[in-house]
Amino acid sequence: IQHLYLVRHAESQFNLEHRIGGDPSLTQRGWEQARALARHFQAIPVPFVFTSTKKRSQETASILIEQQKKCIVHALPEFDEIHAGICEGLTYKEIAERYPKEYLARKKDKYNYCYPQGEGYASLYERVYRGLKKALFLSGAAAGTMIVGHQAINRMILANFNFRRTRNVPYISIPQEQYFHIILTHRKKMVEMVPIVP
Ligand code: G3H
Repeated sequence: IQHLYLVRHAESQFNLEHRIGGDPSLTQRGWEQARALARHFQAIPVPFVFTSTKKRSQETASILIEQQKKCIVHALPEFDEIHAGICEGLTYKEIAERYPKEYLARKKDKYNYCYPQGEGYASLYERVYRGLKKALFLSGAAAGTMIVGHQAINRMILANFNFRRTRNVPYISIPQEQYFHIILTHRKKMVEMVPIVP
């Protein structure tokens, strides 16, 4: 049995401002969530932690990593959030005002839409699965593995275990105060949502 813990980074400064992309740090509330995550996993071994290369992902994992007895950490660029190209750092309201055509095109077909000079869900597929394969290979069959990802990344990873139609994938809810516990056996995959109780 392999346990995979799929966690979304805690609240970042951009989350507060409803901005997308960039490389913001956690807010005070985000740090509290990171502490709650560490406490939640105090008695649960997590020998492998995979983050993205972004601060909000690494900061979310940092307290948990300190508290785990043995923990191997890898920061994988494959798990970096979807790159919003010309829309990086903007709010959805600003995108609608500055790039109304882009805003509508994304609304119409969010999965296949690709930000100019950036990525889309469809174009994320390859790198996210490369990262997932790498993470599962490095952590080996019997280990507890945590991925601290981002909203779009976690949607793609989850869809791999819990089948969804592609058009629905960009709308999967990925809360910051719950994680997905994915249990893999030779025969089946199970997914449960677990609240992060401090
Ligand atoms: O761009 C960053 C967001 O976390 C992805 O969310 O695909 O719903 O816009 P979205």
